[in-house]
Amino acid sequence: MDDFQKLLLQNKAWAQDQLESDPTYFNRLAEIQKPEFLWIGCSDSRVPANEVTYTEPGEIFVHRNIANMVVNTDLNMLSVLQYAVEVLKVKHVMVVGHYGCGGVKAATTNQNFGLLNKWLRNIKDVYRLHKNELDIIPDIDRRVNRLVELNVIEQVYNLAKTTIIQKAWHFHQRPSLHGCVFGLDNGILKELIQLDHNFQLDPLYRYEFSEKEGETDS
Ligand code: CO
Repeated sequence: MDDFQKLLLQNKAWAQDQLESDPTYFNRLAEIQKPEFLWIGCSDSRVPANEVTYTEPGEIFVHRNIANMVVNTDLNMLSVLQYAVEVLKVKHVMVVGHYGCGGVKAATTNQNFGLLNKWLRNIKDVYRLHKNELDIIPDIDRRVNRLVELNVIEQVYNLAKTTIIQKAWHFHQRPSLHGCVFGLDNGILKELIQLDHNFQLDPLYRYEFSEKEGETDS
């Protein structure tokens, strides 16, 4: 049996197990989702949103990319963010990085990764902002892990710079933004930063909204 056939069999076993522990499981799952959280995490296979938070399907809306980036030209991320904030009306948006992140580590090297260079460039820009602090950390792994933290914080600021978040803060005083880092060695999510609608964003990045725009908000 090949790996993929094995995966499909495991899926059947999982579905059976769910039904045995709760015969109404899939009836409930088929109902409309009402998650309170948007999770923007790393694609790394070791940081699955539901498993590490003991949440069920339906509780967390998830977007994952390499190194949990919030890039302001990324239509995929922005579409997920807009849907989560304006339609699902989530209360919390969390950026979740993890120590030992391969994407962050790759961005600290001079290796040519081809297309991936364009994505990792965003992380190199975060390094440049904190170059003085990072350059003096002698141990490479410790330096990468500090960059993981600084990158998470920068991506939370990037969320605050979007019109999607600013509009929701202006008209609805939600969601709150959280930056967390996950420890692969202990399984713990540590919160590094939290911002809400009272956050004083650099005026350069602020947008003005008319009351009319509030009416069109879903
Ligand atoms: Co990663």
